[in-house]
Amino acid sequence: MSKWSKYHQEKGSTMANLVKYAAHLLIVTAIFFHPASFAKQAAVAMPDSYSSDTARAILEQGGNAVDAAIAAQFVLAVTLPEAGNIGGGGFMLIQKDGKGDFIDYRETAPAAAHRDMYLDDKGDVIDNMSVYGIHASGVPGSVAGMWLAHQKHGSLEWKTLLEPAVKLAEQGFIVHPKLAASIERYIARMAKKSVNINFADYFAEAKANKVFKQPELAATLKRIRDQGKAGFYEGETAKIIATFMKQHGGIITEQDLKAYEAKSRTPIKGNWRGYEVLTSPPPSSGGIAILQWLKMYDLAKPKEKLEHNSTTYVHILAEVGKRVFADRAEYLGDPDFYEVPKTALLADDYLSNRASTIRPDAISTTENIKPGLHESEQTTHFSILDKWGNAVANTTTINLSFGSGVVVSGAGFILNDEMDDFSAKPGVMNVFGAIGGKANEIQPHKRMLSSMTPTILLQDNKVKMVTGSPGGTTIISSVYESILNAVEFDMTAEQVVDSPRFHHQLWPKNVIRYHTGLEPKVVKALEKMGYTLDERHFGDMHVIINKDGKLDAASEASGRGKAMVF
Ligand code: GLY
Repeated sequence: MSKWSKYHQEKGSTMANLVKYAAHLLIVTAIFFHPASFAKQAAVAMPDSYSSDTARAILEQGGNAVDAAIAAQFVLAVTLPEAGNIGGGGFMLIQKDGKGDFIDYRETAPAAAHRDMYLDDKGDVIDNMSVYGIHASGVPGSVAGMWLAHQKHGSLEWKTLLEPAVKLAEQGFIVHPKLAASIERYIARMAKKSVNINFADYFAEAKANKVFKQPELAATLKRIRDQGKAGFYEGETAKIIATFMKQHGGIITEQDLKAYEAKSRTPIKGNWRGYEVLTSPPPSSGGIAILQWLKMYDLAKPKEKLEHNSTTYVHILAEVGKRVFADRAEYLGDPDFYEVPKTALLADDYLSNRASTIRPDAISTTENIKPGLHESEQTTHFSILDKWGNAVANTTTINLSFGSGVVVSGAGFILNDEMDDFSAKPGVMNVFGAIGGKANEIQPHKRMLSSMTPTILLQDNKVKMVTGSPGGTTIISSVYESILNAVEFDMTAEQVVDSPRFHHQLWPKNVIRYHTGLEPKVVKALEKMGYTLDERHFGDMHVIINKDGKLDAASEASGRGKAMVF
């Protein structure tokens, strides 16, 4: 048995297991405390080559993982316009100097937002209003998030961290053919919808393998470089945003921008198979969800080890997913507005009751799965580990690809369409098929529920894995499956990110979405059980694994990411 997949928990704890586990802990402790296991390696796994090269350069200048993450976040706002941003938000999970921190820079609803703002006179949700155009955006959080991360954890100068992004916006970058193709597809698709956006005015000129410059964005980034957080939330940039909003009937004001605050929260920490899973607290739904998923899987699986992506493996994890997403819809929301029952949702007896109704050979009826207590995705993720063993898992988003499709004229950045992550009406699905109710209804200044789940696996307080993905609600599946791939199936980082994944989320009823590569016989067997199989890629994983002191990093082959160990 490898050191990484050290502890394949078996159902029912026996004395023999305990002895085995104790012996194993001794071996593992010896390995991980051996000085050679902390070779001064660093690693980055990033969604494009510009962010990857920048993160590496910052680390090589002596910056720490947080410095590298901040510089990369700003670079992605230039070179990955479908998700990288200063007009959106995200979560940065940090393990630094042996301690966890979670920077919540999720967008907030503007002061003038209200519960029924996306409903028509009949009380029906107005098509596309929370997804495209001027009404779709929350107050951006990214710049405040990077500022807070820098104040708390940065070691290089703020200006140094902004410089690479300024340069790429001002002097231009070479457009990757995959980016050019997705811009072209998006413009063609939007032309068919009658949505009022100005995306094409800014991005139609971005052609494959050609230099693309963004002078307005460069000027905005320079204000952020020179004035810090105030360069975005006050002064000229804030005026440009508020004026633009007013001109087009939007509701974000200068006061909204000035009032925005990123927050430092305590990460969720859960024990699972001898690891500490350090993960995202609300307003992310993902941390609670992946812990529920991993723990209920152990409770529901048969004694013998299941084959990776076998019919029973996929089915049991889909059954767990039904229960996870029922809870998500009912109990998860912004903890500053709604008391999320975190402890109850992760309690052992709660999870074991919930898992006890899972059968290995039959699908449970979707309508019967209730909340258990008395509930083209984009986004991007990156993982960084510095030579001191500090880690950052950062997931950031403007929601759908290219956000609301609206570029702030004069400031050159794309605004998010994160308002769609609120529940516009109880029980009505959002663009990801997620439903919600009171916990996630719209209220002024509230953060919309997220599935972003940057996660770090620790052992003896040392980083063993850094993981995360984009993909709306599918993020949660990508993350927990990446952990199972690494721990249960002992995969390399490349295998972890490129193995076919699957996702089930209660609704639509009995639909399993899956990657090409799931075996045809498994697909057939699942269909025979009563599932509908939907073959559609999701996610773009960027993972770092510390295997016996040696780093291994990978970015998913389907994207345009670049991972390096150095
Ligand atoms: N916008 C996707 C998420 O935060 O879950």
